[in-house]
Order: sequence, then C-alpha cells, then structure tokens
Amino acid sequence: MSANREQFGSRLGFILAAAGSAVGIGNLVGFPVAAAKNGGGAFLLIYALFVVFICLPVMLAEISIGRHTQHAPMSAFRSLSSGHKGWTAGGFLALLTPYMIAVFYTVITIWLFGYLFETLSGNLDKLADPAYFGAFINTNDIFWYLIAVNAIVYFILFSGVKDGIEKGAKIMMPALFVMLILLVGFVLTLDNAFAGVRYYIVPDFSKINASVINTALSQAFFSLSLGMGIMITYGSYMQRDDDLPGSAKFVAFTDTAVAFCAGLLIMPAIFSFNPDIDTAELSDSSVGLIFTFLPKIFLALQANIGYGGASAVASIFFLLVFFAAITSLVSITEVPNSAIMGSMKYSRKKSLSMLAVSVLVFSILCIYSFGRADWLTSFMSYGGANKSFFDVIIDVFYDTVLPLNGLLSCLLVLFHWKRANFHRELERGAPNYRHSFLERYVDVSLTTFIPVILLVIFLNTVAYKYFGVSFIG
Ligand code: TRP
Repeated sequence: MSANREQFGSRLGFILAAAGSAVGIGNLVGFPVAAAKNGGGAFLLIYALFVVFICLPVMLAEISIGRHTQHAPMSAFRSLSSGHKGWTAGGFLALLTPYMIAVFYTVITIWLFGYLFETLSGNLDKLADPAYFGAFINTNDIFWYLIAVNAIVYFILFSGVKDGIEKGAKIMMPALFVMLILLVGFVLTLDNAFAGVRYYIVPDFSKINASVINTALSQAFFSLSLGMGIMITYGSYMQRDDDLPGSAKFVAFTDTAVAFCAGLLIMPAIFSFNPDIDTAELSDSSVGLIFTFLPKIFLALQANIGYGGASAVASIFFLLVFFAAITSLVSITEVPNSAIMGSMKYSRKKSLSMLAVSVLVFSILCIYSFGRADWLTSFMSYGGANKSFFDVIIDVFYDTVLPLNGLLSCLLVLFHWKRANFHRELERGAPNYRHSFLERYVDVSLTTFIPVILLVIFLNTVAYKYFGVSFIG
C-alpha cells in the first residue's frame, strides 16, 4: 500500500461522492418510468428488496476490494489473485468498462448541458418541438458544449480526490437534493398530480413477471454503480478506519431515495400534462424521455405559470440532471485515471491529460455516429437492427457487461481473497458488523445465490440482445 495515496477527507465525503456517482439519469427518469409501467408499488418493493439483498453485498465486496488493495480495478485484481493472468484479464475488463462508459456518458452530459443552456436562454419552446433533438445533436454547437463539459469534469478531477471529487460532491449533491425537493413540492400542486402519484405508488402485482423482475434487478445493479470499477476505486480512497458497511448502506439508501423521489416529480408532471396517458406508450429510453418528452411537459406548464415560470422549472430540472450526470461522469473517469496514475506512476495532471485526449477522440466518434459519418452511424448490425458506434458502446458496456464484472468481483473475493479476510476488512472501523445479521447474510448470499443470479442476468442479456432469444420471460 502506498503511503501517499490520496484519500477522502471524511466519511461523509466518501458517501456523497459515491452517492453522486450512483445517482444519474437512470435514477431521475429511467427508474420512475420503469416503475410506473411495471406495477408501481409492486415494482418499488421488488426493487428495494433487490437493493438490500443482492446489490448491497456486491457493493460491500467491491468497496472492500478497493480499500484493502488500495488500487484501481486492474491492479486490485492482480494483487488479490497474486498476479494470476486470467484474473488480471478480468481486471482489464473492469477497467475497459468504465473507460467506455465515460465516452458515451460524456456525450449524454453534453446534450444535457446544451438543453440547460437553451432553457436558460429562453428557448424552451424550441426544445419542445419533437424534431428538435434529432437536429440538435448534429449542430456544431455540440462541440462548444463538449469543451464546456470537459472543462468542468477535468477541473474537478485535476483538483484531486479531496479538493476536487469530494468538494464537488459536497456542493452538487446537497444542491441536487434541494432542487429535487423543490420540484416535487411544486409538481404536487398541479392538477391531477395525485393521479400520477397513485399510478406510481399503488401496487399492481399482476404486472410482475420474470421479465419485470429482471428489469428491476438490472436497474438496481446498474443504478448503484456496481460492476463499473467505481466502488473499487472510491473504496481505495476511503479512510482505513471508516465504517465501510455503514457507508455502503447510506450510499444505497440515498441512491434509492433519490430514485423514489424522482418518481414523485416525473409521474405527477406526466399525469397533469395528460391525465389519460397510457404509460405503456412511454419510451423505455431515458434519453428519449429527457430530450423529447419532458420538454413538452415543461412547456405545457406555461398555462399555469407563464413562459418564464415554465422555463425556470425546466432550467432547475436540467440543472438537477446535469449535476447528477457530472458527478457520475467524474466518478467513471476517475477509474481509468486512477489506474494510469497507479500503474505508470504518472502524476494526476499527466495521467488526466492523456485520458482527456483519448476520451475526447472517442466522444467525437460518438458525436459523428448520429448521421455525420455513415460508417459510424451503421457501425454494426445485430439483434435485427443497425447499430451506431454510440449504440454499440451502450449495448456492450452499459447493458451487458456490468453483471459480469460484478460476478468477477464476487468470485475474486471467494476464491482468492477468502471470506475471512474480506469480513476482516469490513469489520475495521465497524465493530458492530462482526457477528451481525448482515455479516452472516453477506457470507451466505455471496457464496450461494448472488453469483448464480449475476451469471443468469448476464447470459440472458447476451442471448436477448445479440441473438434475440430470452429465457427469462
Ligand atoms: N445511476 C446511474 C444512472 O442512473 C448509472 C450510473 C451509475 C452511472 N454510475 C455511473 C452512469 C457512472 C455513468 C457513470 O445513470
């Protein structure tokens, strides 16, 4: 362990940074709509059970791998497996994944920045036009937004773990909570708001089937930043004597609470816009919802609060989502950065500069994959559709490989690190964890059904996405 490894200054710093990573576009838009479509309260209940009983043990495994080894994913895997080649390759996957996620998340974040900029400039009416988004992503303004977003992200990262990542999270996360609460309070005063709340919360167990269960679990897993190497990396910056299980519980709770509250914002807004809406028609894609559907809803608010008021609400919303995206983007970029700094012994500045250039190149390839360059626009074809470069990155690294990475972390703990050592790491700074119910539960679940479930989700996604067959519903 290196004596001068950077650290978070406080336990709260770790919690806010990790929660900042976990809270993203998926929580704010994807989750509410998935819940509303799939049985409301019944989905919420299943989701919460998955967070506690399946995701939390995996999160404990990842954070403790990081804190114990004091390394980013690849070196952490190498060190725990004593240099085993196969495991080092697994660690490479745990490193490549966040790198590629950083690429496409950069693209989504610059769109958000653009929408924020446009609403602040009084152009909400333009954004509400259904054809706007398609044209927007191919304007040259995108490159300005790209520069602005990179300037913010790399400014935070250049400032280091404590003065950058932690400080950024300490400013943006409380601001995010306040904006979310303000917006929920406002939306609940709209006509028909409670029809939306009812739709969101009243359970409909008849909608629950194998595929809904799969959706809930994948959503929970991905929402908590698992399988992305982030918890390993942030864990490596955690103070040795901090309460690790307690912090992990807090992170999981915050992420879930934000997702839940986002539903109280999105569903009433949708129902006040159209009380007879059939939620089955809502898009499954968070991107479609944020950039084409929601601007329409915000604009409709002008009937109640005027154009200025509607623009203000939309601006607060986009700022909220933008903050959520920036903290996630910072976390995912820090993973390869930390790995480069650790293995090449580069300074933070040098490592980040290299990374910035390479991520920039890939992001530009993504930007060109929406029609500007044909070979990127129809990059590959599988599952019966033509996929752009951007789609392929999302399909492979966001939608497929995360459960596999989570599985590898669990297996590494079980077969190389050994459970007794793992629990010892968790007990440091958390004496109550020893012999607790949680400890016994984590032990049993990680050695039995959690790896099996992760493997099944991974295989099902591969079968479904790339070969069009599904064995889960
Ligand atoms: N919860 C995030 C979302 O909803 C998913 C996510 C977790 C994420 N960690 C991330 C996305 C890191 C990008 C980078 O979007």
